Amino acid sequence: MSISKIGVVGAGTMGNGIAQVAAQAGLKVILVDIEQSFIEKGMKNIVKNWDKDLKKGKISEEQKAAFEGNITTSVDKSALSDCDLVVEAIIENIDIKKQLFKELNDICAPETIIATNTSGFSITEIAAASGRPAKVVGTHFFNPVPVMRLVEVIPGEETSRETVAAAMEFCKIIGKTAIEAKEAPGFIVNRLLVPYLNDACHAFGEGVASAKDIDEAMKLGANMPIGPLALCDLVGIDVLLMVTEYFFKEFGDPKFRPALAMKQKVRAGHLGGKTGKGFYDYSK
Ligand code: 3HC
Repeated sequence: MSISKIGVVGAGTMGNGIAQVAAQAGLKVILVDIEQSFIEKGMKNIVKNWDKDLKKGKISEEQKAAFEGNITTSVDKSALSDCDLVVEAIIENIDIKKQLFKELNDICAPETIIATNTSGFSITEIAAASGRPAKVVGTHFFNPVPVMRLVEVIPGEETSRETVAAAMEFCKIIGKTAIEAKEAPGFIVNRLLVPYLNDACHAFGEGVASAKDIDEAMKLGANMPIGPLALCDLVGIDVLLMVTEYFFKEFGDPKFRPALAMKQKVRAGHLGGKTGKGFYDYSK
C-alpha cells in the first residue's frame, strides 16, 4: 500500500510532533482537533521547531515553506475521509479513544489504516470498538517526537500483516526506526520506563532527596540524558498517572501503585511543561 496522505487526530504534544515529522518527510498531513485554539497551539509549536532549524541552518526557507504547505488543519473529522492512514493522538482515555475509532470507521474510506498512539492500552480493545479491527494498529511515538528515533508498532489480535507492514513502511518514510512489540500493557518502553518514573515520584514523596538532586543523581550516576522528574514534566504527569493506574489495574501487582506525589501534582493541575509547572516551574 502506498502512503501519501495521512491524518493526525489530536494537535497536542504527540500529535503536533507526528504531524511535523510526516510533513517534513513530504507527506500531505491533515491535522484535526476539536477546538481551533488547540490546533493553533500545535501549529505554533511546529513552526517554532522549523524556525529553530532554519536559524541553525538545518533547513532552508524553501524547505520550511514546503513543509508548512504539506499541513492543512480542520476541526471537522470528516476532513479525514480520503487519508491512507490516520494516527490518533488524543487524550489517554480508553473510552474516548474507542468512541473516536467508531466515528473514524464511519468517516474514513474502508482501506484506510487507523493507528493509535496509545501509551499502553490494549490495541485489541480499541480495534474491536472500531468495526475494522484488521486495519487498526498501534504506532507508539516518543516525546519529543522530532528527536526520538523509535516507534513501537503493535498489532492487536485481529490486525492483518498487511496493516503491520504498512505501519512499518510509514515509520520508515518518516525516518523512524520501528520495532514490533506484542500487545501487553506499556509494550516495551513504557513497561520499563513508567515504573522507573513512578519510583522517582515515590522517592520524591518520601523525601529521599529534592527533585533537583534526584534528577542530578540519575544523570551523573546512571548517565541518563535527563533526570526522571524532569522527564515526568516533559511527558506530562497526567499521562504518566493514567498509564500507571492502568498498569496497576491490568497487572494487579502492588509494585505499580501510583505515587501520591504524582497524584497530587495532577490534582493541583501541575502537569509539567505544558501547564508551566510540574516538579519544576517553567513560568519564568
Ligand atoms: N521538540 C523538538 N526538538 C527538540 C525538543 C522538542 N521538544 N527538545 C529538544 N529538541 C532538540 C533541540 O532543538 C536540539 O536539537 P539540535 O541537536 O539540532 O540542536 C536537541 O533536541 C537537543 O536538545 P537540547 O540541547 O536542548 O537538550 P538535551 O540535550 O538535554 O536534549 C532531550 C533534550 C532530547 C529531550 C533529552 O533530554 C532526552 O533525550 N531526554 C529523554 C527523552 C525521553 O526519554 N523520551 C521518552 C519519554 S516516554 C514517551 O514519550 C512515551 C509516552 O507514551 C509516555
